[in-house]
Amino acid sequence: MKVTLKDLTKRFPGRSRKDPAVTAVNDFDFEIPSGELVGLLGPSGCGKSTTLLMICGLEKPTEGQIFFDDEDVTNIPPEERGVGLVFQNYALYPHMTVEQNIMFPLGNLKGADKLTKEQMKEKAKTAAKLVQIDHLLERRPKELSGGQQQRVAIARALVKMPRVLLMDEPLSNLDARLRLQTRVEIRRIQRETGITTIFVTHDQEEAMSISDTIVVMKDGVVQQIGRPQDVYDDPHNLFVAKFLGTPPINVFSGNLHRGKIYIGEDEVFDADNLAPDPGTVRPGADGVRKGPGKLAKDAGDCKVWIGIRPEGFYVDENGPLTCNLKGVEIMGRDVTVLSEHPEFEGETIRTIVDSENRPDTSKSEVHFRVRPGKIFIFSEDTEERLYGSR
Ligand SMILES: Nc1ncnc2c1ncn2[C@@H]1O[C@H](COP(=O)(O)OP(=O)(O)OP(=O)(O)O)[C@@H](O)[C@H]1O
Ligand SMILES: [Mg+2]
Repeated sequence: MKVTLKDLTKRFPGRSRKDPAVTAVNDFDFEIPSGELVGLLGPSGCGKSTTLLMICGLEKPTEGQIFFDDEDVTNIPPEERGVGLVFQNYALYPHMTVEQNIMFPLGNLKGADKLTKEQMKEKAKTAAKLVQIDHLLERRPKELSGGQQQRVAIARALVKMPRVLLMDEPLSNLDARLRLQTRVEIRRIQRETGITTIFVTHDQEEAMSISDTIVVMKDGVVQQIGRPQDVYDDPHNLFVAKFLGTPPINVFSGNLHRGKIYIGEDEVFDADNLAPDPGTVRPGADGVRKGPGKLAKDAGDCKVWIGIRPEGFYVDENGPLTCNLKGVEIMGRDVTVLSEHPEFEGETIRTIVDSENRPDTSKSEVHFRVRPGKIFIFSEDTEERLYGSR
């Protein structure tokens, strides 16, 4: 089922002058195609949970509408929306068995939808099979591992075969290995059932790995929507560029001067080589072009932020960017080069190069060339992208 958010906004009133009103979600406009898994991504407090709560009906939007296919569900109570929910604290009932926990939502069905005990058991079994815990139906929650408990919570959300599945940080209570395993499971279950799913996380790697589409939010405002790889390759602003990628993008302070890009005295790139194809249109959800434009040469010289992905550096004796070499870390095929530069925004520049391309560690300096497609230029002022990569 398709889910459409139309100008969705939620404002919470302030409690005092010290605690002013917040716009938790601001004008969220988005159409989620049927059967997709969408990752909602952003730092703490950016409005992810509030968005989910509005979709399931537990919070009422201040403005805007929510549609399931063509049906306006904005004013429909949560229990009639056909939504499955999995939260971070998946609170199972401790005194009930796994089977009873999974069956629980079916007990609320009324009238013609009312099920017999046998039908409920059958449905619980089907849901339990889907998450591969059908051998644990007799146990109680305390007799399960964290990952198994998580699966019970997912089975409980699936048992009514919801039209939409909403998951809010469902993996954050699990250890790293189980987290990885469970996210693969969630992806499999989502594909098998074809239920339109919204998955909230603040972990960019998790979102990138399981989502068909990611939505990056900041302060209640959607920053960018797209396929994970496209957003990584084509970030529209500095925030998005910094939020995606491990190790993170390397950001330098620099200058644009007569169409050339400088970091300190080093001319690292001819901006013309970075300009996006002027024919490329990057529409946002509302169809309005939100992407970077080609900056005219006569736009003048300005200060800029220069972001270079860790894999965007190439060690080259004649390369234009000179950094102080601090060391290398060898991890199998890849080598991480650690270096410093006075115009670098953080402490240590981390770049990943092939082992054949590692620098001479007896030297105190390393020279880099920058790969086109891995360098992005942002306005120092607005932090919007000026020059593209492709
Ligand atoms: N019931 C509420 N009353 C007042 N303010 C609220 C309420 N719920 C959320 N907020 C505020 O709205 C903003 C967004 O909160 P939300 O819970 O949606 O963030 P989030 O992205 O889910 O963050 P996290 O990653 O920490 O869970 C925050 O500033 C929060 O303080
Ligand atoms: Mg939250």
